[in-house]
Amino acid sequence: MKKLILDLDTGIDDTLAISYALGSPEVELIGIAGTYGNVQLAQGLRNDLAITDLLGHPEIKAYPGLTHASTKDSFSVQKVSAFIHGENGIGDVTIPDSKRSPETEPAVDFIIDAVKTYGKDLTYVPTGPMTNIAAALRKAPEIAQQIGRIVLMGGALTVCGNVSPWSEANISQDPDAANELFRSGAPVTMIGLDVTLQTLLTYRQTGRWRELGTTAGAFLADMTDFYIKAYETTAPKLGGCGLHDPLAVGVAVDPTLVTTLPMNMKVDVEGPTRGRTIGDNDRLNDPVKTMQVAVGVDVDRFLHEFMTRITALAAAAQ
Ligand code: BDR
Ligand code: CA
Repeated sequence: MKKLILDLDTGIDDTLAISYALGSPEVELIGIAGTYGNVQLAQGLRNDLAITDLLGHPEIKAYPGLTHASTKDSFSVQKVSAFIHGENGIGDVTIPDSKRSPETEPAVDFIIDAVKTYGKDLTYVPTGPMTNIAAALRKAPEIAQQIGRIVLMGGALTVCGNVSPWSEANISQDPDAANELFRSGAPVTMIGLDVTLQTLLTYRQTGRWRELGTTAGAFLADMTDFYIKAYETTAPKLGGCGLHDPLAVGVAVDPTLVTTLPMNMKVDVEGPTRGRTIGDNDRLNDPVKTMQVAVGVDVDRFLHEFMTRITALAAAAQ
């Protein structure tokens, strides 16, 4: 069975990514690497353990990643993140703390060890900044060739960014790390705003989770309604919230959900377009293209899979 690692800044759509993974019998979630972004690292790890408990999977371990980009000394949560995800990252919904603690092994070592153990059977899905995987590649560059696949949520190729006209949030947190990953030669699928802003969820669907009558269903519904409400302010024309992070998990489970362009990509790290994801002119004529960039998505099929898997998980949990 395919092994999966999620690397999360947990976050509402990160929580939906955990739910999608746990609701997918085709994959085994072998651990969560924590990162910063929507919340601070410690809050994200707290959320990971509390959420996996609530969803009936207390066996899932969470590993502490790096607390900030390597080019910075620290990280502060931006006001807009708290507006979209809540102060606690999960829509300001209160759920019990887990009795468990994060692991002592650093996420970077956990990722490297997992590649050594599972090789091509391992898929790594980062849905926050690329800081941890860049550090892992610096420590053990050979993992670029050994890993099965990296399916990341981040970037934008054919549409504008969401933090600036050229940059998407996960990439803009640490453009240098993303550039290291893009140019590493690792097999990467980029699930960017090109496709994630086509997969939208509405109150009608979250209502189905609430009707289940379970604590997990009520939590997912209340949390996601907070996110949909924020989208009514930040992107009123969309008519729902973007399912960014769960789409990356969906593609990790079933790559046929998207159509992709084979490309060698880079991230601009200098000048006014810092954080832009774009084709790498220096590798334009390389016969081997190491990245696939999603430019189309089977929206109906993804939404069906998303609702079926997460509803079943929430029905079976407490
Ligand atoms: C990405 O940024 C974060 O706020 C979300 O969790 C998602 O990973 C979307 O740009
Ligand atoms: Ca995220």
